[in-house]
Amino acid sequence: MTARSAFDVARVRALYPALADGHAYLDGAAGTQVPSAVIEAIADAYRAGIGNLGGAFEASGRSSGIVTAARTAVADLVGGAAEGVVFGPSATELAYRVSAALSRQWTADDEIVVSRLDHDSNIRPWIQAAGKVGAVVRWAEADLTTGELPTEQYADLVGPRTRLVAVTAASNSIGTRPDVPVIAGYAHAVGALCYVDGVHATPHVPVDIAALGADFYATSAYKWSGPHLAAVAAAPALLESVWPDKLAPSSNAVPWRFERGTLPFADLAGVTAAVDHLSSLAPGDAVGVPGASVASVTSVTSVTSRRERILASMAAVEAYEAALFARLLDGLAAMGHVTLYGKAARRAPTAFFNVAGVEPRTVAVHLAARGVNVWDGDNYAYELCTALGLEPGGAVRAGVVHYNDASDVDRLLAGLAELAH
Ligand SMILES: Cc1ncc(COP(=O)(O)O)c(C=O)c1O
Repeated sequence: MTARSAFDVARVRALYPALADGHAYLDGAAGTQVPSAVIEAIADAYRAGIGNLGGAFEASGRSSGIVTAARTAVADLVGGAAEGVVFGPSATELAYRVSAALSRQWTADDEIVVSRLDHDSNIRPWIQAAGKVGAVVRWAEADLTTGELPTEQYADLVGPRTRLVAVTAASNSIGTRPDVPVIAGYAHAVGALCYVDGVHATPHVPVDIAALGADFYATSAYKWSGPHLAAVAAAPALLESVWPDKLAPSSNAVPWRFERGTLPFADLAGVTAAVDHLSSLAPGDAVGVPGASVASVTSVTSVTSRRERILASMAAVEAYEAALFARLLDGLAAMGHVTLYGKAARRAPTAFFNVAGVEPRTVAVHLAARGVNVWDGDNYAYELCTALGLEPGGAVRAGVVHYNDASDVDRLLAGLAELAH
């Protein structure tokens, strides 16, 4: 392997100021750190001066440009149309917005399908919206031994009364990546919509919402090195057919009518910077490297579109993370005192496990004292954890993202080894 073809994690880590504290940040599934380029983009927006939208002055125009650029960036990231990108404070809030709007067209004769594998933000808003109109809720079950979400069950779950199928692109606890195109195919065959929770998948794999069959695709920027906000991407024509509750004087145009109140303009500048960062991780890509010459940046950006660079970059991320995750899984599997949940064939690099005789929070405290950051609890994968018999304590979650390295994993394993009796 040449130096040019290797994923240069040292280079990537140097872009993240927070990593200088020496901690092993294996909590990326709950939110990532941000590179300097994102911090600077947010600060630069404030430094330059921004104003609310629609004003007669330059600073207002700058905010408008920031919003347009951020929509284009997210569209490039997921393979959608900029006019179909709706921003909101969180994926949870956007799921509530979309479910409230879509369910205006549902009746008690209708059905929706949710999955036991999902984060609660792609379950509860749909159940509550269905409840208001008396629509029936049907459940897709995860195989608790393998962690898979079998697609065959959708043949029974989806029928002529189905209006919506909600499913995750990756479980934020056990990592399972269901076969979304097949599941979406069941929905589309009966004219139903498919709402895909891409929050956990987006940081780890190249995303193509058309290939997934996602009518709506939710993603949270703070899971992929951006600020704390989220987006849902849909075809503009689909958004045109849906009317959310909105203020009378606010825009009726798509996607604006789905956005309530004033957008976080400076943070949206950070979203564009985060997407640019994600587009720059393929080996040999000079974008984002401190000290990279303007000429080398130009040469990379001029030969390919950002969308193409994102696909190449995220493929490199996926391959790098897979190798690191294998190291993590092998280490955990070798520990007799560790129980791992889920072993799906296709999964995001996220491990969910318990240590015999030690509460998940106690494990997390033990690891934190050794500079290893992991999450404990159900991570809002509440239905799955209940089915697994893990409520209320849940389990320990350790995941890798593209800025983690082998030493992070080894420190986790060393800390866990100390807990063997
Ligand atoms: C898979 C998944 N879906 C949804 C969410 C909720 O995202 P947000 O915090 O943007 O509401 C999370 C957050 O952890 C998640 O991991």
